[in-house]
Amino acid sequence: MRVRILGVAAGGGFPQWNCHCEGCQACRAGQATALTQSSIAIQAQTGEWFLINASPDLRQQIEQMRSQQCFGVEQQRSLPFAGIVLTDAEIDHTTGLILLRESAQPLKISSSLAVKQALTTGYPLLNTLQNYCGVEWSPLELGISIAIATELSIEAFALSNKPPKYMQQSAHSEQVWGVGLTIRDRSTGGSLTYAPGLAAIDPALRDRFAASDWLLIDGTFWSNNELPNLGIGERSALQMGHLPLSGPEGSLGQLAQLTKPGRTLVHINNTNPILIPNSWERQQVEAQGIQIGFDGLMFTV
Ligand code: MLT
Ligand code: MN
Ligand code: ZN
Repeated sequence: MRVRILGVAAGGGFPQWNCHCEGCQACRAGQATALTQSSIAIQAQTGEWFLINASPDLRQQIEQMRSQQCFGVEQQRSLPFAGIVLTDAEIDHTTGLILLRESAQPLKISSSLAVKQALTTGYPLLNTLQNYCGVEWSPLELGISIAIATELSIEAFALSNKPPKYMQQSAHSEQVWGVGLTIRDRSTGGSLTYAPGLAAIDPALRDRFAASDWLLIDGTFWSNNELPNLGIGERSALQMGHLPLSGPEGSLGQLAQLTKPGRTLVHINNTNPILIPNSWERQQVEAQGIQIGFDGLMFTV
């Protein structure tokens, strides 16, 4: 399969419209590359593309794909994605759905039941879309592989119990709100594990990572108190369901121990100093052989 990172930034993008942190200022000054919001796409050998998460920047991301000849011959008003998979119901991963309302076909969306409930109650995008292009929803259950194309299967695994803010009132603590995906290609034997909202790494998850050919991993925050330290927010990275990169328990040290998989950071917040060229933090990541993702990055597994 071919994998394309449509957008690497976490919610808000890089720069974020109201942010004046060091990274956002460097970006506006042309010293750091702007990034659109978190989403990837995968292409089966038969040519069909599947969208995984739908960011508010989806329109621009689709045009970027088209300008790079990612799509073959297209029908008038057709949808360039054979299916859409959602890992969670966060605003930055779902708002792009509404931009697809002009589609001539119903959107085929797979997600957990919790995500469907969020998107039909707290943030009722699916109800709204029913009156435009229509939606054909199918369930994504933990631990069950579903075939999305002849040779491609997707398996969801639990990543985070953190509900979207707009569902906090009705959520219960054990509910899984964010999943990761392992996507396997039978024809190449390759596998990709996508984990944009990683709250912790337990032994089972480490084994899953080690068995994958490529990891696209949560790089939201460098440090646990990144937002409070900047006076921007009150919640720590861990309270937001994102394991920070640095620190004794941080993801960087754990990812450094893995040798086989390609490792690329995605869902990077604009406050994260790894986005600033030549920063000490960026050098720490690269010294471990871990790649910092960028919009339009493509690879094959
Ligand atoms: C997250 O990734 O934690 C959320 O997208 C944050 C948000 O609400 O924007
Ligand atoms: Mn997010
Ligand atoms: Zn910023």
